[in-house]
Amino acid sequence: MAIIYKEENKTFTLHTRKTTYQMKVASYGYLLHTYYGKKTEGDMSYLIQRRDRGFSGNPYEAESDRTFSLDTLPQEYSCQGNGDFRSVAFNVRNAQGVYGCDLRFRNYRIYQGKYELPGLPGVYGTEEELETLEITLADENVGVEVVLCYSVLEALDVITRAVRVKNTGAEVLTVTKAASAELDFVCGDYDVLHFHGRHGMEHVMERTPVFHGNQSFGSIRGASSHQHNPFLILAQQNTTEDKGECYGISFVYSGNFHGEVEKDQTAQTRMLMGIQDQMFAYDLAAGETFTAPEAALSCSSEGLSSLSQNFHRLIRYHICRGKFQKVRRPILINNWEATYFDFDGEKICNIARQASELGVEMLVLDDGWFGQRDGDVSGLGDWVVNEEKLGCTMGELSEKINQIGMKFGLWIEPEMISENSDLYRAHPDWAFAIPGKNPVRSRHQLVLDFSREEVVDYIYSSLEKVISHANISYLKMDMNRSITDVYTAVSGYQNHGKILYQFVLGVYRFLDKINTRFPDLFVEGCSGGGGRFDAGMLYYTPQIWCSDNTDAVERLAIQKGTSYGYPISAVGSHVSIVPNHQTGRVTSLKTRGVVAMAGSFGYELDLGVLSEEEKELVKQQIADYRKYWNLIQNGDYYRLEVAGKDTALEAWMFVAEDASEALVNVVTLEARCNGPVAYVKLRGLKEAGSYRLEGTHQVLSGSALMYGGLPVPHMNGEYQAWQVHLTEIGESAEAI
Ligand code: DGJ
Repeated sequence: MAIIYKEENKTFTLHTRKTTYQMKVASYGYLLHTYYGKKTEGDMSYLIQRRDRGFSGNPYEAESDRTFSLDTLPQEYSCQGNGDFRSVAFNVRNAQGVYGCDLRFRNYRIYQGKYELPGLPGVYGTEEELETLEITLADENVGVEVVLCYSVLEALDVITRAVRVKNTGAEVLTVTKAASAELDFVCGDYDVLHFHGRHGMEHVMERTPVFHGNQSFGSIRGASSHQHNPFLILAQQNTTEDKGECYGISFVYSGNFHGEVEKDQTAQTRMLMGIQDQMFAYDLAAGETFTAPEAALSCSSEGLSSLSQNFHRLIRYHICRGKFQKVRRPILINNWEATYFDFDGEKICNIARQASELGVEMLVLDDGWFGQRDGDVSGLGDWVVNEEKLGCTMGELSEKINQIGMKFGLWIEPEMISENSDLYRAHPDWAFAIPGKNPVRSRHQLVLDFSREEVVDYIYSSLEKVISHANISYLKMDMNRSITDVYTAVSGYQNHGKILYQFVLGVYRFLDKINTRFPDLFVEGCSGGGGRFDAGMLYYTPQIWCSDNTDAVERLAIQKGTSYGYPISAVGSHVSIVPNHQTGRVTSLKTRGVVAMAGSFGYELDLGVLSEEEKELVKQQIADYRKYWNLIQNGDYYRLEVAGKDTALEAWMFVAEDASEALVNVVTLEARCNGPVAYVKLRGLKEAGSYRLEGTHQVLSGSALMYGGLPVPHMNGEYQAWQVHLTEIGESAEAI
């Protein structure tokens, strides 16, 4: 039993394999958070030390007890209006415009399996794998009921949370904030690790101390965004990759979000994650319910690598779905950087022929195959094959590609519309625009109102026609602008504070229809690269194009940042041409291959322009990826620390679950004259195991490789790559 309620001390304890999470119904029915961390036994509420603190008020019932203050107590789900002046998880506004409520414990239930999330993505598992606790809090005066939902995936050290809010009163009640998870800590000096960026440079990790005040990360762009990712880590300040306590929260949602970390007046820390409260005001009619999306939490006391691995396993096996979950993804070639919009059917077949000869398995036809789409100014919304441009039907083109020996994939951008399109001319009101105001344009396009069912249905049926009339194995679903001018043009009263939530539900409904109608289709997510790289999308699209930046060196930081919260199997990564189109940098084909292999591997260039020697290397890379894919996709991933400050390189490795083999990868960042030797300390091997370094006769023990390290061979020039495969040859100390 992972979830235990003890009536004698009114504690709810959630145990996973290595962690404990606990809360307690305290005086006056307030639900306090007592502990989250390494596994413990017993009532942890002794950690909460109450003091009389000036300007921190007390509930009326506390009478002369001035030590019970919601302003200083660690809470499970704090709300505005009862004396907590920190950033809170929840707020409502009633029909008279009065803000706030006072939530008290009402009841609970515990059951096997998972709570429901209507229309939303979420962690899944069997009844045996998951146990659920629902705690109901309520404020009868305001007329609101809040159900806190927790599911425990014991084996993975993961706890998921979601919240249902019900209007139990007679008038409209507006939810103005509803975080999905709150974590309060009574002590500790923490760093927050967050993942910021921009288009072409996503998920850059920044580690910064938590200071007094509120640190806030989020998106109001309609999608989870390039600028901040909905994944946060709170780590004790001495936490490293392999030591120390850390907590991660991944928001399983693809729209506006808000993550907050606050150190309060007495150095306690609060972390919140949930739907963005800006531009959010969700009206609930009497009896109606709002479901706040899911947040997945994990804690590790063994450092950041193990925390990441918890999220990797969670996403790989309990969020991603479909037949591609564990099998190898086809090695593909995408024509985007080879042709941009300038192609016809013949050019595409030539790219496919070249690629097929070298071993590539699928061609993905990117933007430009539909409507009047020869640039980014027109055509979006007209999902009708441009047969004149292709010189044939889509069915015929897919057949030609199949005859070349390759599978065929297609790019789409369903949520968007060009003003210069037949769809816009027929339905201008389907695009977000505020009456009387010119909408903001971005990449010359507007956003379709996917909160409207008929819009989603129309786009789905136009695309369904294309997909079902050709042999299509793969879809790349793009989204190339942030959302503005949110206004829904349907008649009657509309609460525009809920449209962006309903928009995201519309996107999920579209994807659900595609997944259901085409169960054999592999769908890759994309938003100008990693602008919607989140656990919510991964429920429908088990892989996401990680960045429009294909420069191998910049990709090191992007992919490393991504790896904190997301598995390698989720990362789309391609070898492209040099000088790189985004940075102008030149790196070797070998380095580009090694970096792209830290993801779902593919190519995005005209292979015809490569030299014969380079083509041989491409064949070798494809053979290597076929050999190592399982280790890369399903193995444990480690970010490696490099001994010595004077070495500039990035290193990472993949280790098989049974530690019988590993793949070590190193890329040098600088060229040095007479420089020091770099040593990488490997991780995850069997201490007593003996490992042969492929291509050599050298055999080293796991302990030597992990504690002594592996010397990196001298490589002349910057941006050089080294990849070495280790195979265990038995447990023999003699091998040392
Ligand atoms: C942005 C994507 O990230 C690119 O890979 C490409 O598909 C373009 N859109 C096409 O418009």
